Amino acid sequence: MQDLNKLKSKILAEIKGAKTLSTLEDIRLSALGKKGRVTALLKELGHLSAEEKKTFGGALNQLKGDINSDLNAKREELEARALNTQLAEDKFDVTLPVEPEPEGRIHPLTQVLEEMMEIFAAMDFKIAEGPHIEDDFHNFTALNIPPEHPARQMHDTFYMKADQGGERKLLRTHTSPVQIRTMMSQKPPIRIIAPGRTFRSDSDATHTPMFHQIEGLVIDEFTTMGHLKGTIEAFVKAFFEVDDVKMRFRPSYFPFTEPSAEVDVGCDLSKGQVRIGGGNDWLEIIGCGMLHPKVLEYCNLDPNKYQGFAFGCGLDRLAMLKYGMPDLRPFFESDLRWLRHYGFRALDIPTIAGGLSR
Ligand code: PHE
Repeated sequence: MQDLNKLKSKILAEIKGAKTLSTLEDIRLSALGKKGRVTALLKELGHLSAEEKKTFGGALNQLKGDINSDLNAKREELEARALNTQLAEDKFDVTLPVEPEPEGRIHPLTQVLEEMMEIFAAMDFKIAEGPHIEDDFHNFTALNIPPEHPARQMHDTFYMKADQGGERKLLRTHTSPVQIRTMMSQKPPIRIIAPGRTFRSDSDATHTPMFHQIEGLVIDEFTTMGHLKGTIEAFVKAFFEVDDVKMRFRPSYFPFTEPSAEVDVGCDLSKGQVRIGGGNDWLEIIGCGMLHPKVLEYCNLDPNKYQGFAFGCGLDRLAMLKYGMPDLRPFFESDLRWLRHYGFRALDIPTIAGGLSR
């Protein structure tokens, strides 16, 4: 028993004196490992009488317990010390100059689209989408442009190869097919805007084969041209950030609206720049009208019960007008110099999450 006490104080002293985690592990092995000092004693228990086994065995277990608890306490202490040393060494100098992070830009189209979505969201419009590859029915026929209709020639359409059934799909020439898809899948009241890509075989400074439009559609039981005018006026004022904007609704023709109009905004083109608001010039920006009864019928809506209006305009064109960009082509050329010049800083943008205020 005396030897046992000696062994105990020896091992506990070793533990106490351990300076590193690896010496501590060596001590553990030399005491409790397979060939350890305490393990050797435990093995001898078999040779003892029942009485001795009881006392000696109990004392050995007690010793094992003491060693383990000292080992654990020491391990925690050593680990904490190691962590503190590391933290102390890891100091960093907050006075060092920061490395500049490259800062990206928001493309003007994204900016303009976000602005528009904000404005229409505030008037309770939802966003709708449709496919870029359309069929003849949605892009033309249901919009009251039957096969021989001359209006088909107004759109320089990109056609796909005919499929086995002889049907030729096409790249949508406007966002108006989204009107059809919306009316066929939703019940009025409907209030949507549909922004997206559109395609026409056309190319010069203000036309690219791919461009963007935004479509608006409102269908309800009591919708009048007054609502159409009010909506467009509110949009134009908010978008161009001018209160006294001059507008005129010029009679026009679209097969899918009746009556149809084109909206011009008053502007000043005299100083080589476009300024929306004052001035004596006019710029056409939006096509619109009251939904043609035939279009409602194509979508299985009763024209005697429902009326509505639609409008469409070029997103790129509105971006060019608002932010003074003379040429459309660089929009899609991904030239970083152009983007740095005309792009927007992320934190300056009035985001959907942040509201329209700036
Ligand atoms: N889809 C027409 C175009 O591309 C624009 C338009 C949309 C006109 C909705 C009236 C109503 O020219």
